[in-house]
Amino acid sequence: MKKVFFSLPGNETLTQSLAAILGAELGETEIRHFPDGESYVRVLSDVKAKSVVLVCTLHHPDTKFLPLYLLAQTLREQGTTDICLVAPYLAYMRQDKQFKQGEAVTSRYFARLIESIADSLITIDPHLHRFHTISELYTIPARALHAAPLLASWVQQHVSKPILIGPDEESMQWVKEVAILAGAPYLVLHKTRLGDENVQVSQPQLAAYTNHTPVLVDDIISTAHTMIETIQHLKQLTIQKPVCIGVHAVFAGGAYENLVQAGAAAIVTCNTIPHFSNAISVDKLLAEAILI
Ligand code: R5P
Repeated sequence: MKKVFFSLPGNETLTQSLAAILGAELGETEIRHFPDGESYVRVLSDVKAKSVVLVCTLHHPDTKFLPLYLLAQTLREQGTTDICLVAPYLAYMRQDKQFKQGEAVTSRYFARLIESIADSLITIDPHLHRFHTISELYTIPARALHAAPLLASWVQQHVSKPILIGPDEESMQWVKEVAILAGAPYLVLHKTRLGDENVQVSQPQLAAYTNHTPVLVDDIISTAHTMIETIQHLKQLTIQKPVCIGVHAVFAGGAYENLVQAGAAAIVTCNTIPHFSNAISVDKLLAEAILI
């Protein structure tokens, strides 16, 4: 059955690209805000007995979820048979444990919300730490795709003599795979998080790699403090300016500018969140997953 692709606001470029790759129909909607801030949602396409793909990356999820929910409900009332949510960036994955008494484990709660609107989920490199697979968290069919081969290919094409550096233990899963695929050495550092904007990162053992280009690889660049702390160490150890690669360009506040100022030679991200640093396309990766 042919699928109809709908974009939530801000996801139009990716949605059009996916529909074009798959030769699928683009659904039309009217989504806007009333003067009082409430959402207005209208489905203009015929979705009766049709399968639907909703494309909505989920950074700033608190404002994005409600229009997504309202559109999904409308589509169901119009007779759509099933909804696949394509959320290249999946939010609320980092709060996966109660660290202090009374804290919300929002990863689980957000999963229940997503399940209330979608029959299946496709995402890219969700932040899996204490949950090891996406299926431990989501009860609907959920696929976590990996951008590592795309990152490796970018590194091979753009960086000569790279030394890949993961800033914390969690980054091992990406850095190791990218390094193996790119045929490059890698190091993984140790990070202690002291607060939202305060991290300590261990010093890289760079002696054997001083004539290599450091390539920092992480899943999320949010405040960029993780990468900035790593760059401060690198400045003491090598004159080579680092390349910073993040899968998801969250860039909270002035994070991008701060990272430039810290001395990044280049900042490269995937287009899982639209940002001018997007240099690695996930369109084909997503399209192939939607087909299956
Ligand atoms: C968490 O450990 C993630 O893998 C990233 O390292 C983290 O989200 C980066 O956050 P920030 O850019 O705020 O340092």
